[in-house]
Amino acid sequence: MDDFALHPTFALASPGEVPLGAREVHVWAVPLHGEPGALAALLSAKERERAARFRFADHQRRYQIGHGALRTILGGYLGVPPTAVEFTQGPRGKPYVAGAGPFFNLSHSGKLALVALAGSEVGIDVEKVRHLESLTAIAQRHFSPTEFAALDALPEAGRQLAFYRCWTRKEAYIKALGLGLAMPLDTFDVSLGERPEFLACRGGGERAADWVLLDVSPGPEFVAAAALRGSVPELRCFRLPLA
Ligand SMILES: CC(C)(COP(=O)(O)OP(=O)(O)OC[C@H]1O[C@@H](n2cnc3c(N)ncnc32)[C@H](O)[C@@H]1OP(=O)(O)O)[C@@H](O)C(=O)NCCC(=O)NCCS
Repeated sequence: MDDFALHPTFALASPGEVPLGAREVHVWAVPLHGEPGALAALLSAKERERAARFRFADHQRRYQIGHGALRTILGGYLGVPPTAVEFTQGPRGKPYVAGAGPFFNLSHSGKLALVALAGSEVGIDVEKVRHLESLTAIAQRHFSPTEFAALDALPEAGRQLAFYRCWTRKEAYIKALGLGLAMPLDTFDVSLGERPEFLACRGGGERAADWVLLDVSPGPEFVAAAALRGSVPELRCFRLPLA
C-alpha cells in the first residue's frame, strides 16, 4: 500500500497498454516504499554495482525500485522485456534510451519517483515539500533576480508553495536540457504562480517560446513540474500496479 495518497488523476495502468501519442507527455508515478522484490532482478550489472554502493539500505531499496520500475515502464513502450532496455548518456550524464525510443527523464524525492516520457526532450522534477528555515537564502542563491523579487513580494503564507513551484520548474528545464549544474540558473525566468510559464530566456540559444512547462500534481506532500520542447501537449498520468 502507498504510505502517501497519490492524486487520483494517476490512473492505474500497465506499461505497454498506453501508447505515447505524438502530442502527449506521460508521467508515471512510482512509490518507492516497501521491498524491491522482483524489480531488483531487472537491473543491469552496472545498476547493481551502483545499488551496492549506497550506504543506507533504504536508499539502496529505493534505487532498486525506481530503476527496476523505469526499466519496466520503458520496456512497455519499446515492446521489449525490461532487462533488454539499453541506455546511453548525454555529455553531462542525462540518460537516454539507446537507439530509437521516447525521450524520458526520472526524478525522485522522498518515497516517490516520477518518470516522464515524451516525443521530444523532456525534464521532470519532484520535490517533497518540507519546511525550509533558509528558504529566502536558498532562493537568493538559485533563483534569477526576477524570480527572487516575485517571491519576496509574496505574503509569508504563500512563499513555500511559490518557492517549490519555481524550484521544480527551473529544475525540470535544466533537466530537459541535460545540463545539470553547468546551467547558470539566473539566465532564465519561470513563473511562481499557479500557472506554469516560461517567462524569459537570456542567451544560450534557447527561446522561452520553444518550451512548455507543466505542473504535475502527484499529491499534497509533493510539488512537481515537467518541461519539454515543443507546443502544449496533453499530460497523462499513470501509476504502476506495484504491490
Ligand atoms: C542530476 C541532476 C540534473 C538532478 O539531480 P537531483 O535534483 O538531485 O535529482 P532528481 O531526482 O530530480 O534527478 C535524478 C535523475 O535525473 C537523471 N539525470 C542524471 N543526470 C542528468 C542530467 N544531466 N540531466 C537530466 N537528468 C539527469 C537520472 O535519471 C537521475 O536518476 P538516478 O540518479 O537515480 O540515476 C543534478 O545534477 C543537478 O544538476 N541538480 C541541480 C540542482 C540545482 O541547483 N537546482 C536548482 C533549481 S532552482
